[in-house]
Amino acid sequence: MMERRTTGWAPREETVSHPGRCGNKKPRRSTEPCKTMGKDVNGGEYFERVAPQWDQMRQRFFSENVRAVVYDTANVQPGKLAADIGAGTGFITEGLLRKGLRVIAVDLSEAMLEELRKKFGDFNAVDCRAGESAHLPIADAAVDYVFANMYLHHVEKPSDALREMARVLRTGGKVVITDLDEHCHEFLRAEHHDRWMGFKREDVRLWFEKAGLRNARVDCVGENCCATSGFGAGSAAVGIFIASGEK
Ligand SMILES: C[S@@+](CC[C@H](N)C(=O)[O-])C[C@H]1O[C@@H](n2cnc3c(N)ncnc32)[C@H](O)[C@@H]1O
Repeated sequence: MMERRTTGWAPREETVSHPGRCGNKKPRRSTEPCKTMGKDVNGGEYFERVAPQWDQMRQRFFSENVRAVVYDTANVQPGKLAADIGAGTGFITEGLLRKGLRVIAVDLSEAMLEELRKKFGDFNAVDCRAGESAHLPIADAAVDYVFANMYLHHVEKPSDALREMARVLRTGGKVVITDLDEHCHEFLRAEHHDRWMGFKREDVRLWFEKAGLRNARVDCVGENCCATSGFGAGSAAVGIFIASGEK
């Protein structure tokens, strides 16, 4: 159950250049303080709690087409080593294993990793590591691909998270991220512990470049992430972008 509403905060580190607009509502900055249900503004407790139901929740948010677009964009090859950052219960990991890659699955939440292990623990090809966006538990230049689906809007400093992803990538490797376009649905922060109300694609492209990644591109995945408030705050259908770059 959700706790009573209390006031939390959103990160202020990276100012998004223009406030987002939504319908005729007042423009908002992605960096404004947020109100959140409960004290857990970082989402840590939230993901511990929802881990056993995450697969069912995720199926209501977006379809499996998202990962098909991710694998195509990365042009994944069997035998390669990938990192799935903010892996959750293994939405991206699962397809990579099926395609014959080895995967290092990293997540802050032990409960999420436990669910992932239950599903894929029998595969020698998956290595689960508890870790945090700012200090990924992976050596420099260790992996051929880095993936992160619906992770960036939960981290405190997206540009630092990108720099870490670039650090662990070998030269010639690819980073592919799927996440939310900028939106104004406050309930996603309040009820799903999002830190960022999506991103401007140009900001994401610049973070890729700042991280030293070449050929940075940000495109549409071609579907929306859909959610309905459990507290009568409406519904959201937010565009999903796919961002990629090479080292
Ligand atoms: C919205 S879920 C997405 C999970 C999975 N990628 C998927 O598509 O189903 C976000 C995941 O990122 C993890 N996460 C959030 N903040 C993180 C951080 N700072 N470092 C590492 N993992 C984090 C959460 O524990 C959660 O499993």
